[in-house]
Amino acid sequence: MCGIVGYVGHSNATGIIIEGLKKLEYRGYDSSGIALCTKEKELIVRKKKGRIANLEELIGDENLYGNLGIGHTRWATHGAPSDVNAHPHTDASGRIAVVHNGIIENYQILREELENEHGIQFKSESDTEVIAQLIGLYYDGDLEEAVFKATERMRGAYGIGVICVNEPDRMVAVRKDSPLIVGLGKGCNFIASDIPALLKHVRQIYLIENNEMVVLNANEVKIYNGDRQPVSREVFNVNWEDEAAEKGGYDHFMLKEIHEQPQVIKDTLAGRIDENGEIAIDSIHMSKEEIESFNRIYIVACGTAYHAGLVGKFAIEKLAGVGVEVDVASEFRYRDPFIDEKTLFIAISQSGETLDTLAALREAKAKGARIMSIVNVVGSSVARESDDVLYTWAGPEIAVASTKAYTTQLICMYLLGLYMGRKKGVIADDVYRRYVDELEAAPDRIREILKGEKHIETLARKLYRRNNVFFIGRGYDAAVSYEASLKLKEISYINSFATAAGELKHGTIALIEQDTLVIAIATQQRLFEKMLSNIQEVKTRGAYVLGIAKADSTEMDQQAEDVIYIPQCMDEVSPLLSIVPLQILAYYIAKLRGCDIDKPKNLAKSVTVE
Ligand code: M6R
Repeated sequence: MCGIVGYVGHSNATGIIIEGLKKLEYRGYDSSGIALCTKEKELIVRKKKGRIANLEELIGDENLYGNLGIGHTRWATHGAPSDVNAHPHTDASGRIAVVHNGIIENYQILREELENEHGIQFKSESDTEVIAQLIGLYYDGDLEEAVFKATERMRGAYGIGVICVNEPDRMVAVRKDSPLIVGLGKGCNFIASDIPALLKHVRQIYLIENNEMVVLNANEVKIYNGDRQPVSREVFNVNWEDEAAEKGGYDHFMLKEIHEQPQVIKDTLAGRIDENGEIAIDSIHMSKEEIESFNRIYIVACGTAYHAGLVGKFAIEKLAGVGVEVDVASEFRYRDPFIDEKTLFIAISQSGETLDTLAALREAKAKGARIMSIVNVVGSSVARESDDVLYTWAGPEIAVASTKAYTTQLICMYLLGLYMGRKKGVIADDVYRRYVDELEAAPDRIREILKGEKHIETLARKLYRRNNVFFIGRGYDAAVSYEASLKLKEISYINSFATAAGELKHGTIALIEQDTLVIAIATQQRLFEKMLSNIQEVKTRGAYVLGIAKADSTEMDQQAEDVIYIPQCMDEVSPLLSIVPLQILAYYIAKLRGCDIDKPKNLAKSVTVE
């Protein structure tokens, strides 16, 4: 979590850094701060609890000026959100300032050593202050050297940016298990945790690898590996438009991203189905023999990406004829799963930086598994550490609540199932064609659903005061229930719970009482009657039922108080459609409850801590 930005050049760094931080606020937003080096070798630090707007208010009319600066937006781990725990942190002499994204695992030992053996007095509870104090301790006129010595002592994850008043023309940055990029400008250079922070200024970037150190001035960027040997790096050209990271007239990024789904699904399919309707995925290099040799597939991910994996399990098992297990990444790595060279490990991650997912991937890799990933952020850690990558072309997803990343992850899951099944020769031609047609039809069908937004908003007005909501479904619909429930709870703070509809009677039904809202997803033909029975079970206990059903399911009208219909589609691809009205419903309910939709409390977009 946390976002860092740094600038070195000939302009005033203040505005550039604050604008960049605003683009990274999705990474954490409980405090923010900025440090500038002036030509007079003065270090200016301003930091404030709360949103970046609070920092701007603090700075007010102050004319802060420096051509070198670093900034930070925080998601608290060590030390509560407060002015004093906000970054940048400085060393005891006040010459050095540090911003940090990650966690220093041995900070307590280092802190005790600095306090007891060197008499250093700490100002904050943050683990990051240890970095600043260590660099200060080792500083002897060469910032690069001091940062190197400090990192040799640090354990954990860090992307750091460091400046020193004695060297007002250069910045040092290091990456270990936390994202870091360098933006290459004309007469200026930048560092950042993520691309949107720099889009206004640069299109050319370096993706910094693990354990690398970067030394930047206005005209030059030098990258060193962990042995301090210079390394050369290819320039990565970013082809996003700046507007891709803007709201484009929508009230919230979440709504904009919901509306982008038809287009990004199209983009994710583009180039992967050739003119003959054959799946052609350039980025996957698996032979028929390799695919046949897999005796175990794990899909591992967190949150929404995990929910995409639940749908992926159904799709791959059906299409490729091989058993699939889906695991929450934080559990997978500690349960000592059986893995060998016949295992295919599939990581799903929007950011590609989720630490739990990355750690599970490394565990699987060390045990010999083949690693494939489905990732949105190009060049992210998960992507780089995988043998094969299938990118979701969703573009930047800014809202903390994932929407377009989820539906494009589903597309990738179907593509992968078709790819593997086709190579193995286990899918009949007509079944294969039908799937391809259905995937290609999804964008238009989602457009149809989006046309019903007003109806869903009206339903939200009816339902937004509820305190408990239950989502039920069977098969693919159960998988969608989990995602729909997460969407609602994370942005509206309503206590919502999802369960396979058949499980209700084994406990959860005890919670159903007069007027309890139950959202029943019932798009699977072969399970429809069973769902109607489950709906009856909750209605008998007083539930108010909102049904999600396909356009021809007229029985739903008689069973449920309200219904949202989705267009006709093949049962197996219905998750692509059924989630969309529930994303919209969650959005409007949260809006009516006055919630901070794009930045829900206690959350952050990219979770780079365990
Ligand atoms: O970047 P990732 O896809 O790896 O993130 C995983 C989860 O943190 C993420 O999906 C989270 O659950 C969503 N923000 C929920 O909307």
